[in-house]
Amino acid sequence: MLSRCMTYKLLDGAVAAHGCLAPSRCMTYKLLYTLLCGKDDLLLPLLKTEQLTHTYSIDTPFEHIAICDVDFEVEKGEYLGIIGHTGSGKSTFIQHLNGLLKPTSGRVYFNGADIHESKLQTRNIRFKVGLVFQYPEYQLFENTVFDDIAFGPKNMGLSEGEVSERVIEAAGFALLDDALLKKSPFELSGGQKRRAAIAGVIAMRPEVLILDEPTAGLDPRGRAEIIGNIMNYKHAHDATIIMVTHSMEEIARNVDRIVIFEEGRIVMEGAPGSIFSDSERLLAMGLSAPKAALVAQRLHAMGLPIKRDIYTIPQLRQAINDLKGGGKGA
Ligand SMILES: Nc1ncnc2c1ncn2[C@@H]1O[C@H](COP(=O)(O)OP(=O)(O)O)[C@@H](O)[C@H]1O
Ligand SMILES: [Mg+2]
Repeated sequence: MLSRCMTYKLLDGAVAAHGCLAPSRCMTYKLLYTLLCGKDDLLLPLLKTEQLTHTYSIDTPFEHIAICDVDFEVEKGEYLGIIGHTGSGKSTFIQHLNGLLKPTSGRVYFNGADIHESKLQTRNIRFKVGLVFQYPEYQLFENTVFDDIAFGPKNMGLSEGEVSERVIEAAGFALLDDALLKKSPFELSGGQKRRAAIAGVIAMRPEVLILDEPTAGLDPRGRAEIIGNIMNYKHAHDATIIMVTHSMEEIARNVDRIVIFEEGRIVMEGAPGSIFSDSERLLAMGLSAPKAALVAQRLHAMGLPIKRDIYTIPQLRQAINDLKGGGKGA
C-alpha cells in the first residue's frame, strides 16, 4: 500500500511530465489517480452534453433551430471561454447547462446523471450550476442589496444564519462593502449593480459558475473588477467557470480552453495557444484574435523566429527580449 505522500508525489510527477496546468484534464493524471486512489470520479466530466439540439417555436412559422447536435464536456476546475457571433447559439446553449431550457433532443449530464432525470434533480442542478444572465442588474428587484443577494440561498431552504453567512461571503467576493448591503439596489452604480447580481448567484456556492457576457457595457475598471471577482470565487471554491465573452483579450488572459460556436454548432475547440495561432481562420469567421497573437503571427510571417502560438503581451515581450538577446550574442 502506497503512503499518501508517495501517491501525491506520483500524481505531481504526472502533472510535471506533461507540463499540464489542469490535472483534471490530463489523461495520465486521471488514470494514475484512478489506479492509486481507487476512485473514478476524475474520469467523469463534470458537465457533458450529447447531441444537444434546441428548436424554438416548434410547429409555428417562426420555428428556428438555435443549436444543433452539440457534444460538449467541461471538467471540474476548468475555466472555459465560449465565443461566437451574436446569434450563434451561445446563450441558448448555456441555459441548457443548468436545466433552464429543456433540450428538444439530446441530453445534459451533471456528474454522469441526466439533469432531467427527475424534477428534484433538475431543481438541485439550479443550485449547483449557477447562471448569471447578460445584464443581470435588470433583475435586481428586492428592497435592499442584502435581500437581493439572499434570494437564492433562501430558495435553497437554508437557515437565516446560513443565508446571512452566504450573503456576507458573496458580497466579499464581489467587493461590496457592508454599508452597500443596506441600500436599495437602485442606489448603486452600474458596476456595483452588476457585482451585486453576480453575488446573488455566488451566494448559492455553485460548483459551476456560468456567466453570459459578464463585462458587457462596463468601463475597463469595471471589467477588471468583475474578472477579479470571478477569479477569487474560482480559487476559493475550486469552482468550474464557463464564461461567454466578446473580448478576445479577456479570454486570452483567463481561460484554460476555448469553445467557438457558429450557427448553432461547436466549430473549434482547444487551448488558447492553439485557437489563436490560427488567426486567419478566426478572421474568416468574422472573429478576431488578441493583439499580441496578431503581432506575433505578423512577425513570424516576416521570417522572424517568433512562435505562432503566442497570444499574451508578457509572452510577446519575452519572445522579443529573447530575440534581442540572441542578436547581441550573434
Ligand atoms: N426565445 C427565443 N425565441 C426564438 N428564437 C430565439 C430565442 N432566443 C434566441 N433565439 C434565436 O436563436 C438563435 C441563437 O440565439 P442566442 O442563443 O441568443 O445566440 P447568442 O447568445 O450566440 O447571441 C438566434 O437566431 C436567435 O434569434
Ligand atoms: Mg447571447
